[in-house]
Amino acid sequence: MAILYTVLEDHESASRHVAGLLVETINRHSPDTSGLCTLGLATGSTPLSVYENLCRRYQSGEVSFQGITTFNLDEYVGLPPEHPQSYLAYMRTNLFDHVDLDRSKTHLPAAHQIDDSHSAEAISRRYESEIENAGGIDWQLLGIGVNGHIGFNEPGATIDSPTRLVDLAASTIEANSRFFESTDQVPKQAITMGIGTILKARKIVLLATGAAKAEAVAAAINGPVTSDNPASFLQTHSDVLFVLDREAASAIA
Ligand code: PGA
Repeated sequence: MAILYTVLEDHESASRHVAGLLVETINRHSPDTSGLCTLGLATGSTPLSVYENLCRRYQSGEVSFQGITTFNLDEYVGLPPEHPQSYLAYMRTNLFDHVDLDRSKTHLPAAHQIDDSHSAEAISRRYESEIENAGGIDWQLLGIGVNGHIGFNEPGATIDSPTRLVDLAASTIEANSRFFESTDQVPKQAITMGIGTILKARKIVLLATGAAKAEAVAAAINGPVTSDNPASFLQTHSDVLFVLDREAASAIA
């Protein structure tokens, strides 16, 4: 199935567009109506303006997060949760601490709990069960890596992969080193929702901006469905929207 995409002028307008879609979704599911909405959330540089926009809209009374449950895509292995570069810290700093989300309804893979008595497999299975018990993900936000990864599903990931422990690709470690003092300090593993987990979401919105993402975006949209570009698996889902700026859309045929 062809992936739908929309092209906005720049990073800010693309981010505003995605925040608007999220606010509409949340308000459609507000406690006055069905009362339940489960969001899949992403980290990284790309969604920062989306979260800023959501915080502003919450402060101006346009949206409330009461009744919302969230599941993040991934978490690094080897960082304590309070480490400033953990994805839990990212979510607290950029969203959770600023809006009326019920903290007990926010979830990230508990990668910091891996030890002799808690295997990565058990923690991953528990995450899948938590998603299922919440009724599945209604609306999943994604970014895309320069190598086509979604979540931390690097090239080679299979279409039915579940939440699991993964090794990060060298290009991902390199890209993420900008947040650490040196490349040595970048975690080399993570627990990520799988491609299979992501594809179960009812709606998926992928935000990509900047020229560095152009090739990966074009391959995901125009290229074959292949493990070489994990985002291409999104072609098999019936409700996916890519929100792009001009630069990220520049290589689409
Ligand atoms: P970025 O990462 O937003 O920091 O570019 C996106 C991703 O790797 O999914």
